Amino acid sequence: MQTFTTAAELTGLLSAARRRGQRIGFVPTMGALHRGHATLVRRSVEEQDLTVVSIFVNPTQFTEGADLTAYPRTPEADIALLEASGCHFLYMPGVEDVYPAGTAERLTDRLEFGSLTTRMEGIQRPGHFGGVAQVVHRLLEIVDPHVLYLGQKDYQQVAVIRRMIELIGSRVVVSTVPTVREPDGLALSSRNRLLQPEERRAAGAINGQLAAVVAGLQVGWPARELERIATATMHQLPLLNPEYVEVFDGDTLLPYQDGDPVRELVVATAVRVGRVRLIDNRIVPPAQP
Ligand code: PAF
Repeated sequence: MQTFTTAAELTGLLSAARRRGQRIGFVPTMGALHRGHATLVRRSVEEQDLTVVSIFVNPTQFTEGADLTAYPRTPEADIALLEASGCHFLYMPGVEDVYPAGTAERLTDRLEFGSLTTRMEGIQRPGHFGGVAQVVHRLLEIVDPHVLYLGQKDYQQVAVIRRMIELIGSRVVVSTVPTVREPDGLALSSRNRLLQPEERRAAGAINGQLAAVVAGLQVGWPARELERIATATMHQLPLLNPEYVEVFDGDTLLPYQDGDPVRELVVATAVRVGRVRLIDNRIVPPAQP
């Protein structure tokens, strides 16, 4: 694996690879890598000729300064995981390389995301998706991949990035990879390592609540009632403080109205466990005929 700290070094090699007809897969990350990231990287390595991973803790997507400072940084372990996963190029820039003209100018601010950014994480973390769209737009400009690999755990983020790609007219294909879980169902996340042992045990219940909502929807229970029960149940469990449980249309992210025909039905939650904020979601499997 070759590591680059500047876009200038990386882009020359990538242009040459493109001219040779090689296909490029790209996995953007903020580091603190885990098996979920390894799954994305391996998928790209299997499907493309060249895999590029970026590690960049993007300051513009953090709404709380303390969250940015506390974000885990584990560069040596990240490099070892990427080597073991078959990554070819690692881009590990500083802020100036990603934003040479500063962070204020955001082409993506002129894009219209509608309900994709005004609900759930958009309410809890105002400005977050503006920062995500800004950095992914810039990283795509640098890497110019054929396929962008993203994790389903950040369902809303994937929806925003897909829309951004559509709005800027890019031809990059987005491939969404299912969430990897611990044996008790906890979705793998870089933030899990910030949990104290008793918080970690408590967090194992989150996915069970989403599974209960899925089961309820499959037998026709009203969505709002299921959201209410899951929220109330988590409030009663030790150390869990849910911010929302939402059943929604996967295309618009608007609340699901019982009986509406939707292409993809999803339930998502954000839960504070101590000082750590975790998100998770499940796609509701289509009813069997
Ligand atoms: O999901 C993440 O790790 C980040 O939001 C991303 C997509 C790398 C942008 O900084």
